[in-house]
Parts: sequence; structure tokens; C-alpha cells
Amino acid sequence: MRQHLLSEGANELSYEIREIVKKAEQIKNLGKEIQWENIGDPIQKNHLIPDWMKQIIADLAMQNDTYSYCPSKGILETRQFLAELTNLRKGTQITPDDICFFNGLGDAIAKVYQYITPTSRIIGPSPAYSTHSSAEAAHASHEPLTYTLDPNNKWYPDLNDLYNKVKYNPNVVGILIINPDNPTGMVYPLETLKRIVAIAKEFNLFLICDEIYINITYNGARAYALSEVIEDVPGIAMKGISKELPWPGARCGWMEYYNRGKDADFNRLCQAIDNAKMIEVCSTKLPQLAIPKILGDSRFQAYREETNRKIGKRSKLISDIFKTVPQLTFNETFGAFYNTIIFREGTLKSNQKIDIQDSKIRALVEAWTAHEMPNDKRFVYYLLGAKGICVVPISSFCSELQGFRVTLLEENEETLVKTFTAIRDGIVEYLSSH
Ligand SMILES: Cc1ncc(COP(=O)(O)O)c(C=O)c1O
Repeated sequence: MRQHLLSEGANELSYEIREIVKKAEQIKNLGKEIQWENIGDPIQKNHLIPDWMKQIIADLAMQNDTYSYCPSKGILETRQFLAELTNLRKGTQITPDDICFFNGLGDAIAKVYQYITPTSRIIGPSPAYSTHSSAEAAHASHEPLTYTLDPNNKWYPDLNDLYNKVKYNPNVVGILIINPDNPTGMVYPLETLKRIVAIAKEFNLFLICDEIYINITYNGARAYALSEVIEDVPGIAMKGISKELPWPGARCGWMEYYNRGKDADFNRLCQAIDNAKMIEVCSTKLPQLAIPKILGDSRFQAYREETNRKIGKRSKLISDIFKTVPQLTFNETFGAFYNTIIFREGTLKSNQKIDIQDSKIRALVEAWTAHEMPNDKRFVYYLLGAKGICVVPISSFCSELQGFRVTLLEENEETLVKTFTAIRDGIVEYLSSH
């Protein structure tokens, strides 16, 4: 080409949650059935949307007006409804003007970092959810900047690490929180959130809080929303319906801007994000029409509670299976629907194996693992080849830890127990093979 086409930031884009699918498809093509533990899609794991919800959507689909354009920022009545929901939490109060809709939070995440000066950085958790870390790194043309979530302390953030990284890096302008967290399933305690707000206040930063799982907690946990703790610090909460209804195919999420009036720079960022949506002409209308009708329905809370209870039960079942392996650091989860399981230091080596009966599959896995790679990725490939279970290595979540992420979504208890027992047996065989 006459000039370079690609920006340097493009090198930072990767999404192992989907990359691993290409490998799993190759194994599947050799005749092995695959258990998909790589992606947080409840529908793919046989979750059934209640008929009353489907009826609401079907009725909307029958109305002619549903098919027209709507405001890019989102339908006013829906933004009004959502602003009231947030205001009920009795923290920072917002108006419909403080809400902007996106084509799923994936789109919101891409937009929020894009308009920040490249030298200004948002520090985020590690292990990192790669949609955030990749988008932030691409904006900065630099690897992600992270604070540690500590597997030896229930995956809570290491607040000293966060404080020091903020203090000694003047380019940090914001802190990202994912609460409840993907990939760890951790729910931030109130005190932790308050401390992060205090750090933001001390260094004049803004906060981004991804709350896509805010209503998915279980086994006694409750997640505090950013609006409840933020006081007068500027911040953005990101919310959506992909997980909560769940309707990931709707591509519908939104941002809530808090304390826009408290900082002119922050206000300009919010305005730029709104403008970026405006040039896209329209936002996803059908799901927006459905939001007040579904979230406002008296059956919704009971449905969510029951669904959360089932996730909590699976969390315990999985805990019972993995707790017996001393080489693992295992934390029980309390929110979202993932668990990140860590191999203790020194347990993974580059010559371990699980027996793969099928010679073609064995040859394929041996070819994949013939070159140097993180040891957890190597384990994941062997697990895929030997047991047909597709999980995601934790080294691909911007982490130096070695482990893998699973989901808590399998609706069929027998399949769940079978899958996780097979993972455990695979681990035991792998670790004892050399
Ligand atoms: C923390 C987090 N944020 C955002 C998303 C993407 O959500 P959406 O489907 O709204 O793009 C996900 C999807 O897994 C997620 O885990």
C-alpha cells in the first residue's frame, strides 16, 4: 500500500474466548463431541426464556411502529424507566439525558476508550475481560495496564497494587471495575468499592464500572452499584440485557453517566460518546421497547431470583468437584456465571499430557503444542483433545497466572457433573503424567 494501513493499536486486538472455538471446531470435525465452556451465553447452554417474556417481544414485533428508526441515544421512555431504576438505589441521581444506548456493551466498550487521548490510560483488573483490555490497549497502542485480582484473597482487588500504579503513573485517568467480575465470579465488597472511589477522588480520576452482571448474584451475595458509592466522583456505569434476560443476540446495552457536571473534561467525553452514537443514525429499537415491559413486570424479579439460585447451586457443585485437587487454587463464586481456576505455581510443566485415544486427534494436539506457548494453553489443548471440553486459558486474560475459565451455565445437572468431573480427572492425569 502507498502508506501503512494499520494503526499500531490493531495489534492489541484479541479475543481468545472465540479464538479457541477455531481449535475446538477442528477437533469436532474429527468426530469428537464438544462441551462448550468457553462463552457466557446462557441460551447456548439450554436456558429457556420464559414464555411471558417471549410474548412481550412477540407483541412488540407485531406493531408497525417497532420497525421505524428511533433516537440514537435510545427511546426516551426507556431511558426514563432506567433512570428511575438507578435513582431508586438512593445514590447519585440521574436523568434520561445521562443514559445512552449501544449495540451491546461490546459497542459501548469500544466507544468509551476510543475518544480518550491515546496517552491517557484506564487501569483495569487482571485477569482482564479481553473486550475491555483489548479496546483500551488498542486506543493507547500499548499493552493493557492492570491491577491485580488476588486468587489467594477471594479474587478481591489488591488495593495497594492499584494505589501504587495510579500514584506512580500520571497517565492514568480512570479505573475500570467489573462488578460482579468476568472471569473470576468475584463480587466487590462495599469497602473495596469505597476505597476505589477514594483513590479516584485523591488523584482526580473517573471510574468506569461494567455492571452487566449486577443483578446476577447468589449464595447470599449482593452487588453494590457504582451509583450507590460514587458520591461526587465522575463515572460511567455500563449495563445491558445480554446476561440478565438473557438476550445477548439483541445487541443492547447502555451507559449511565454519573456526575457529569462535576468535571468539564469528563462532561466533554460523555458528549463525544453521545455524538459518536448520533452519527450511527439509530440504536437497536425492539429490545429497548421490551426493557420497561420485561424489567417492569412483576414476574421478572422472581424469575431472576430463581435463575440466580440455580447458578449458585452449580457454583457449589463445581466447588465440591474441584476442592479435592490440592494443586489448584479454587475460589467459590458469588456473582456472574464464571469461575477461574488457577494451577498453583510450579505444577504445570511443558511436557505433561492427557492420554488421547484417537490417533488423529492426538496428532493434531501434538502439532498444536509442538511450539512454545503458555503452559495453561497447552493444558487447555490437551483437555480439548482428550475430553472434548472447550475452556479458555487464563493467560489470555492479560494475566501471569496459569489456569482456565469455565462457565456455570450448564442447565442439565447430570451433564454439568459429568463435564466438571471429566475436567478434574483430566487435570489429575495431566499433572501426574510427568
Ligand atoms: C463483563 C462483560 N462486559 C460486557 C460484555 C459484552 O456484553 P454485550 O453482549 O452487551 O456486548 C460481556 C460479555 O460476556 C462481559 O462479560
